[in-house]
Amino acid sequence: MANPRHPLVVPPAVIRLEPLDPVHSRALQLLLEDPAIAATTPFPHPYPPDGAEQYVAESTSLRAAGTKYVFAVCEPGGDPIGMSLIKDVDPINGEGELGYWIGRPHWGRGHATRAAEATLAFAFGSLNLQRIHAVCLEANGGSLRVLAKLGFVESRRFLQALPKWPEPRPSIGFVLSREEWSAQHTRSADMVRPCT
Ligand SMILES: CC(C)(COP(=O)(O)OP(=O)(O)OC[C@H]1O[C@@H](n2cnc3c(N)ncnc32)[C@H](O)[C@@H]1OP(=O)(O)O)[C@@H](O)C(=O)NCCC(=O)NCCS
Repeated sequence: MANPRHPLVVPPAVIRLEPLDPVHSRALQLLLEDPAIAATTPFPHPYPPDGAEQYVAESTSLRAAGTKYVFAVCEPGGDPIGMSLIKDVDPINGEGELGYWIGRPHWGRGHATRAAEATLAFAFGSLNLQRIHAVCLEANGGSLRVLAKLGFVESRRFLQALPKWPEPRPSIGFVLSREEWSAQHTRSADMVRPCT
């Protein structure tokens, strides 16, 4: 079982997931300043100059508390290109919520799908969760496709309200059970191993 404090690698070595750390802040800050990330996520735009630094600090304490696990998605030997995460971890009910974003220069290469797969393997394997939720704007075609490729099933339609939006936006809730994951992704889960 992977140690929650160790990076995860997904062979072939296209990406590497590293527990989010201050060393990632600078590269992620530049990518998070792109309005394309804020457009479909709760991140604000304009992004504050110390936004990534603050996010890393908050994520480090939430990881220690066992409620949120954020990974920097890195190209092998390279800078971070995005994040994937499990948040709102509820060990009593065995649930958590998947999140991810990839910097715009790196879209369309399968990185979000691979990063999310590794994060799900971590959530079902290392965290032993039973159900993973996800929320996506109806208008976010790329992310809907990522969730479909991962085997997520629609659970509800609702209007999502964020303080930064003047009006709530049509959104879709998804769920992936441990059983569905095991049936569909056994090989992927086995392939994810701690990186030493
Ligand atoms: C959504 C996002 C994570 C996708 O990242 P990515 O690395 O490009 O994703 P992948 O390459 O793994 O897969 C994208 C899939 O969506 C498809 N796609 C891209 N744009 C699409 C669109 N507008 N409509 C439908 N499908 C689309 C791609 O063709 C690909 O599917 P395929 O593998 O069957 O060809 C990225 O665009 C992003 O970070 N957006 C901003 C933040 C965000 O929306 N995060 C998710 C919040 S729910």
